Amino acid sequence: MELAHLPETEECIRTVRHWLEERPAQPLAYLHTFGCQLNVADGEKLAGLLQEMGYGITQDASEASLILYNTCAVRENAEDRVFGTLGSIKKQKLENPALILCVTGCMTAQQTVADKIRKSYPFVDIVLGSNAVSRLPQMLYAKMHGERFAWDISVSADIPENVPTARESAYKAAVPIMYGCNNFCTYCIVPYVRGRERSRAPQAIVEEVRSLVSQGYKEIMLLGQNVNSYGKDLPDGMDFPALLREIDKIGGEYWIRFMSSHPKDATPALMDAILECDHLAKHLHLPVQSGSNDILRRMNRRYTVEMYLEKVRYIREKCPDFSLTTDLIVGFPDESEADFQATLDIVKEVRYDNMYSFIYSKRTGTKAALMDDPVTAQEKSERMGRLLALQRDIAIENNKRFVGRTIQVLADGESKKRSGFLTGRSTENMLVEFAGTPDLIGTFVTVRITESHSGKVDGEIV
Ligand code: SAM
Ligand code: SF4
Ligand code: F3S
Repeated sequence: MELAHLPETEECIRTVRHWLEERPAQPLAYLHTFGCQLNVADGEKLAGLLQEMGYGITQDASEASLILYNTCAVRENAEDRVFGTLGSIKKQKLENPALILCVTGCMTAQQTVADKIRKSYPFVDIVLGSNAVSRLPQMLYAKMHGERFAWDISVSADIPENVPTARESAYKAAVPIMYGCNNFCTYCIVPYVRGRERSRAPQAIVEEVRSLVSQGYKEIMLLGQNVNSYGKDLPDGMDFPALLREIDKIGGEYWIRFMSSHPKDATPALMDAILECDHLAKHLHLPVQSGSNDILRRMNRRYTVEMYLEKVRYIREKCPDFSLTTDLIVGFPDESEADFQATLDIVKEVRYDNMYSFIYSKRTGTKAALMDDPVTAQEKSERMGRLLALQRDIAIENNKRFVGRTIQVLADGESKKRSGFLTGRSTENMLVEFAGTPDLIGTFVTVRITESHSGKVDGEIV
């Protein structure tokens, strides 16, 4: 069956639904999402489509008649986890040939991965390309019409609008505002698997946020690989700071967060918008990746340490304890001890509240994969240990600033360690633990901070 000539999504949804209604019991689908928040947002759309087609959602893969893996390709261990999971599901598929197995997400866009699936995991039924969640009904339609394999590994340039979405939370919502990336950092696979930058229309974003706020959502996370290049591809040219100011006009009690921001595009206009808009969380995730100018150049990050620190200075002059977090890569090819020291230096200077640090992972097809890398794995993990120890000391010191303050916290769950306690996040994204009852989850509470630790602060509701 020519996949390009399949019916429109609506017709495929209707046909699959009729097909499923003929079964004696409601069929169940199991969906596992790997990777970043953009993938989680795609997963919510896949779940919405599954429900629209008549599937129930189960957390138990063994009772499912459809299993979907929404994959991530950013580091090798992310891919290894998916292949491991596929291997372990093989027995279930052999015992139940009617089981439909679907692999989607970022891994599928790599030819090497598609080839490996075909060769080593031939029992996979559907491979659905990245950015292509809205074509899931077409794939199931093709299966229904006797197609053994439904393969579409193209990186779609579609901007999926009005796709049914089954949101995981009733008070925190992710809203993708753009897809793809144009930056081609030399270590990163994302531009290859997600395609070029495509911004959603501002009206569609503002309307979606307005609708979420009116449904009672308290935190809206705007998502994109590089949110602050939002709008560069739009005819009316609305940029990201202008979009933030538009959204901020929506009345109600809610916070706006966003990620990720590329430092080269983090302009004074963006930082002014963060500080001036009432609904914007007072926190910026600004991935630095390295503190060495030589490494930054070889990473193609297009900023220097000096340019980065100038941006930090701009926002900290206006708001001295403004919360910054970052991403860092340890062990980029040929990272010298001096390069690594420069990374420790920038961490000491900026004093991040939190950090996501990764050991460099070679990604076939990227420029960095062709660079010599004489640094041993042992050396890299030893450097990672030193970086984590430094960050822990900084976080302990930083978190003391909250003690004695009375702050607003969005309660988001029960504490896993202390019964009768809740956890939540402050506007700075600080983890806060306090005594409280589950009915407060999903609401803003006022908490006085009494104690600080390395990864959280404790407080009491006032
Ligand atoms: N677009 C975002 C940005 O530029 O900040 C980041 C998106 S990426 C999914 C998240 C993080 O993964 C990056 O900031 C980087 O630190 C890390 N990362 C990406 N490729 C990597 C690689 N090959 N090895 C190790 N870490 C990597
Ligand atoms: Fe990857 Fe760089 Fe794009 Fe981020 S900005 S997704 S690190 S290429
Ligand atoms: Fe992974 Fe794709 Fe996100 S590679 S980090 S799931 S954009």
